[in-house]
Amino acid sequence: PAPGWTAEADAIVVGSGIAGLTAALELRTHVPRVLLVTKGRLLSGSTVWAQGGIAAALDPSDSPEAHLADTLAAGGGLSDPDAVQVLVTEGPERVRELVARGAVFDKAADGDIALTREGGHRADRIAHAGGDATGAEISRALVAQIEAVRHDPGIEVVENALVLDVLTTLDGRACGVTLHVRGTGSRDGVGAVLAPAVVLATGGIGQVFRSSTNPAGATGDGIAAALRAGAVLGDLEFVQFHPTVLWLGTGAKGQVPLISEAVRGEGALLLDVDGHRFMPAVHEMAELAPRDVVAHAIVRQMAATGADNVLLDARHLGREFLRTRFPTINARLLEAGIDWSEEPVPVAPAQHYHSGGVVTDLDGRSSVDGLYAVGEVACTGVHGANRLASNSLLEGLVFAFRAARDVAARFDAGELKPGAPAERSGGSGLVAAAARSRIQKVTSAGSGVIRSARSLAEVDERLAAVRADAHLAPEVVAEPQAAEWETTNVYQVARALTRAATLREETRGGHYRTDFPKPEEEWRRRVQIWLDDDGVL
Ligand code: SIN
Repeated sequence: PAPGWTAEADAIVVGSGIAGLTAALELRTHVPRVLLVTKGRLLSGSTVWAQGGIAAALDPSDSPEAHLADTLAAGGGLSDPDAVQVLVTEGPERVRELVARGAVFDKAADGDIALTREGGHRADRIAHAGGDATGAEISRALVAQIEAVRHDPGIEVVENALVLDVLTTLDGRACGVTLHVRGTGSRDGVGAVLAPAVVLATGGIGQVFRSSTNPAGATGDGIAAALRAGAVLGDLEFVQFHPTVLWLGTGAKGQVPLISEAVRGEGALLLDVDGHRFMPAVHEMAELAPRDVVAHAIVRQMAATGADNVLLDARHLGREFLRTRFPTINARLLEAGIDWSEEPVPVAPAQHYHSGGVVTDLDGRSSVDGLYAVGEVACTGVHGANRLASNSLLEGLVFAFRAARDVAARFDAGELKPGAPAERSGGSGLVAAAARSRIQKVTSAGSGVIRSARSLAEVDERLAAVRADAHLAPEVVAEPQAAEWETTNVYQVARALTRAATLREETRGGHYRTDFPKPEEEWRRRVQIWLDDDGVL
């Protein structure tokens, strides 16, 4: 629809997780007019749910080189070593800056930041806060900084604002966004904000699957908008399924409770439903093997025993330790009627993180000039085929800072100039909101933890059928709501991800194909996806 209002800024940041807040705070000190838009409230999104922590070589006995080695090993040969180098060398300084911004991490007895271990790490390097509420503490500290400058004329915050599309000029540069805003006075309804720099920090894609640790807002908005704007996407097939999510029965849908990897870091063991420990036979790091290895071993063990779940046994850690070290998880388990000091916890893998996204360089620049992507929406190359535990908050922090600095430098150099949005032709229209649960079911069944050419072809076919059946009511065509935009994004991400998974004929990291069960040397490269001039993937 035609925008009902327009505004201007020098840089727009979309999203208010660790990456969006970091980018906005950094940009504010360099460019005159920053607009921060977020789909919910400032304190919503995925960061607030992060439990385990943030990885960085903070201990003198650890080193960025060791962190680099573990990140590359988890990435299954597909990580970009330059991007990982940036992550691990700049990470410690960025984490210290977070502390300076007011984030309070848990302390060890000697007063230093307490560090724990998670899967794939060969050193204790995970900083955590509130026991298992790291994301909530980081968000609190960063949002407090934004609130402190909210009335500063240099920054405007618009909440309840869903980004619809990235606007581009005739010569293909990003020049702003269209937004759907709910209930914000003069900025209500559909509007356009023009700006020469757009930083996407919209997070993940959990809603593409039936169950996920992500909140309801994780509908892949940034990836889908970037795709429509002509950006190149990469590594989309690498979806990370967290091995230990509380098993709530076959009917469980939507956001499901995470049992942090840090619980295994503190010594909890995985047992099958017959009480046998199975990880030592799978990997030398046993329960602390990289996440893809553990998730796949669990799925195989479930198939072998015919059960829908395995068990996480933390009984030996003791009630008091579990209550104080993991207060969030403890409370959630008690709510579900489980006393984990007395009984093992039923767990199964569920969608958790998207390693792929909008392809960027080391400064967050996408293939569309002026369009940046940071955090989970980006594909910087650090994760490769499988993200190392607790590298996600760090990636958001490090690359958002770099992107903000790059925007500022280019702004000062006069390289980023305002432009007029061109009419975009084509586009395949909106998908009805009612189609969302079918999309999730189809994608989870065929493009989930285990895939094959046949299952992926079925997803493709069934998604096309969902689309053909999903008719929009005339009042929705006249005035689409957030649910239609979001479902359209979910549909487009499901299609793009399935296409990438079909192309990659091997098994590597988070991409597990039964018809190509091993990694293949010729596939040690990135699958890239974009729309051609006819809007076809
Ligand atoms: C967890 O706490 O297990 C999640 C950490 C992560 O996803 O990196």
